[in-house]
Amino acid sequence: MMTRIAEGIEFRLTVPSLQISLGEKIALIGHSGCGKSTLLDILAMILRPTHAGAFRFRPKKEAPPIDVAKAWSQKDLNFMGDLRKHRIGYVMQTGGLLPYLTVRDNINLSRQLLGMPDDGTVETLAKNLSIQHHLNKHPDLLSTGERQRVAIARALAHNPSIVIADEPTASLDPIASRKIMALFVELTEEMQITVIIASHDWKHIKQLGLRRLAHRTTQNRAGTVTETKVTG
Ligand SMILES: Nc1ncnc2c1ncn2[C@@H]1O[C@H](COP(=O)(O)OP(=O)(O)OP(=O)(O)O)[C@@H](O)[C@H]1O
Ligand SMILES: [Mg+2]
Repeated sequence: MMTRIAEGIEFRLTVPSLQISLGEKIALIGHSGCGKSTLLDILAMILRPTHAGAFRFRPKKEAPPIDVAKAWSQKDLNFMGDLRKHRIGYVMQTGGLLPYLTVRDNINLSRQLLGMPDDGTVETLAKNLSIQHHLNKHPDLLSTGERQRVAIARALAHNPSIVIADEPTASLDPIASRKIMALFVELTEEMQITVIIASHDWKHIKQLGLRRLAHRTTQNRAGTVTETKVTG
């Protein structure tokens, strides 16, 4: 459960039960303010839930589940940081690329932080996303769509267990957006990475075979408390 309060307005996110299997493709669809980013940030272990009955994460099929709720309650931030760095890829709505690094170094960022070898992964990903000719450029010389593709490559480069994308193509026109989204989902399938995407475009997302999480948003009469309940 997550409670956010700002200036007397309260937002509550409750997740009575949610199970995501390894390799699953999940969609989170909903109107602005319903809590998509809040849920994604909790799943990405960036945001600490106000209360967590159980929160377990199994990074690999053969690995034992990690008790995330316990790690949060023990404030084991180093452990959480390590887990995030190794296991999670995050594509932000605006790309979130570092302007002073080349495209190559942006994509390679997480691999470099983890001390992973230079084995051609960056080039292969760039090729798959058709940005191989831009590797030596800085992001400000790229179009919005190209930048989003760099952000996708960056989120996948360290071969995470799960990749979380918060409306990764929201700033693109519908045709470009659909193309990049399809490419993104295809890549995660090939790499057998679990994917969770927040999007507005359910029609297209559905065609890509994603499972939609159910949620319900209610508001009190005064409009001061909004609650979203997510299950799936
Ligand atoms: N840091 C914060 N402190 C307090 N309230 C917040 C904070 N961040 C978000 N909220 C509130 O939580 C609710 C859910 O926000 P969230 O960003 O998760 O929505 P969203 O579904 O991602 O919306 P959008 O589609 O616009 O990105 C909103 O009502 C918002 O005002
Ligand atoms: Mg959001």
